[in-house]
Amino acid sequence: MCGIIGYTGRQNAIPKITAGLSVLEYRGYDSAGLAAAGNGRITTIKCCGRVKDLEEKLRQTEEIITTCAIGHTRWATHGGVTDRNAHPHTVGYVTLVHNGIIENEKEWRERLTLDGYHFSSETDTEVAAALLNRAYQKTKDPLQAIYGVLEILRGSYAFAMIFADRTDEIYAVRQDSPLLIAQGEDGCYLASDLTALVSYASTYCVPDEGVVVRLNQDGIFLCYKDGTQKEPIYQQSGMQHAAAERGGYDTFMKKEICEQPQALRAALNGREAEGLPDFSINALPTDFFDNVHRIHIVACGSAMHAGLLGARLLERDTGIPTTIFIASEYRYHMPPKEEGTLLIAISQSGETADTLAALRAAKARGIPVLAIVNAENTAIAREAAHVLYTHAGPEIAVATTKGYCTQVALLWMISLFLSNRRKTIAQDTIKERLAFLKESAPKAISAVIARESELSHIAERLDGHDRLFYIGRGRDYALAAEGSLKLKEISYVHSEAYAAGELKHGTISLIEPGTPVIAFCTEDALAEKMLSNVREVASRGASVTVLCKASLSSLFLQSAVVFPLDCENDETAVFAMMTAMQLIAYETARRRGCDVDKPRNLAKSVTVE
Ligand code: AGP
Repeated sequence: MCGIIGYTGRQNAIPKITAGLSVLEYRGYDSAGLAAAGNGRITTIKCCGRVKDLEEKLRQTEEIITTCAIGHTRWATHGGVTDRNAHPHTVGYVTLVHNGIIENEKEWRERLTLDGYHFSSETDTEVAAALLNRAYQKTKDPLQAIYGVLEILRGSYAFAMIFADRTDEIYAVRQDSPLLIAQGEDGCYLASDLTALVSYASTYCVPDEGVVVRLNQDGIFLCYKDGTQKEPIYQQSGMQHAAAERGGYDTFMKKEICEQPQALRAALNGREAEGLPDFSINALPTDFFDNVHRIHIVACGSAMHAGLLGARLLERDTGIPTTIFIASEYRYHMPPKEEGTLLIAISQSGETADTLAALRAAKARGIPVLAIVNAENTAIAREAAHVLYTHAGPEIAVATTKGYCTQVALLWMISLFLSNRRKTIAQDTIKERLAFLKESAPKAISAVIARESELSHIAERLDGHDRLFYIGRGRDYALAAEGSLKLKEISYVHSEAYAAGELKHGTISLIEPGTPVIAFCTEDALAEKMLSNVREVASRGASVTVLCKASLSSLFLQSAVVFPLDCENDETAVFAMMTAMQLIAYETARRRGCDVDKPRNLAKSVTVE
């Protein structure tokens, strides 16, 4: 949700900023812009559209050579998608880029207007720039001005700021929004996330909230309010440069679907002792779960769907009552306090504001939090008592695939770990299931990927339709919820996931001749009931496709087109099904000519509530 980048050093800053913006574009792609400082002035170039549009605008402008610049890629919050609302914003001496939301912008906009200031954009960011310029005009001291303005701003932000009369310096500060700094060989960098820094530095630092950072030719300094300053303490980055590249695939989404077998192995790797699940590598005490009598899971979107599936596994295998909450709802309707509650927060990006807010609300109540996160050292990972990283590697496509896959894998692992601790399942069975997860499930994913052209035929059946239903029972319902979201977000086809037995209680009235219905069935015990539900819609003219365990195919053949999945156990069934539904969404989006990696209106990490 908005990407910011900055560089000051010995090299030309412009190619570094545009390269950084291309990498950060998945955070928001409504508009892009940069501001170059040099020769006593600031030059700003910005426009609606993608980073490539900004690059085109740069080509049409007199070449800018500078060693200090900041850049921004926007996901609109305040004000429409217009050139004027694009960042950077300049007021007087101050030019800045911003990721976040200033909550009291209206109040300050009115006050500044009364004082005679004329706003040229609708953004909250320009309010911050105007306040900062006013303070800077008085003090001519950037630190004093910034700290003064932070006292009167409410909200979340990561700012990168330059001043017209200090053209080799960048100042930056964060509050509830991500910001990283890194010292490269040729200069100093800041960015919203690690993906933009890995090409330049192998270490990075996350500055504390509210601490102003100064980057200039002398290096990077943390400048405290009391006038003291310190050099940052850097830590090693776990990210490989190539991991954030497309590597020969047409799209990141396709690459990430195909990476799932290795991502799944990486998620489970090292978390095993004598064939049983073990989290000691993550410094999770063996007795961590022993006093847990209830589990709350909070997450958003696909992570919430992973939680939905995980909750079913946890309850089935461990007997611990487990409830999944939409993170944005949790803190406004927290269940009654109960001793022995554990909160599991799930997030690929580790930045999602709704999930972070839910985590904080739980902590404030004294509920211990375990986070399942992909992106290292992000807010959710830092603020949880314990974190289990999914190790899926950088996920660039906005629609999550390997992130979701590894979240499910870790929840499964937790469920097996708890089953072992509580002796709810025999050890041999746990060992067998863990082996299925580690060995058979990755193979099952690869087998589905190899059948991509068959799934493309299923996508073809959706041609010309703008609405459809996904149905399933039990864990297939949880998978259907994710399949439906995947399809909606990248192909813009409206679909609804329904618990198959619930459709007849109202929504079946929407089934007309030809309405596509995609049904999932991997649970033997639920197959006959699923067959009834498939017949109910087929007899009303629905065009039904069933994705099911191969051994169940014959049940459905009379009522539907069947895609049989070779899966002999729960573990392979779940991972094969998730891959199939991802590829159906992918193929549908491609057939419609959609931008699969950057669907309209979306952004990779949602850092506003
Ligand atoms: C997934 O395809 C979506 N783009 C979205 O629902 C996402 O899963 C959700 O915003 C949560 O993100 P997180 O895992 O980074 O917290």
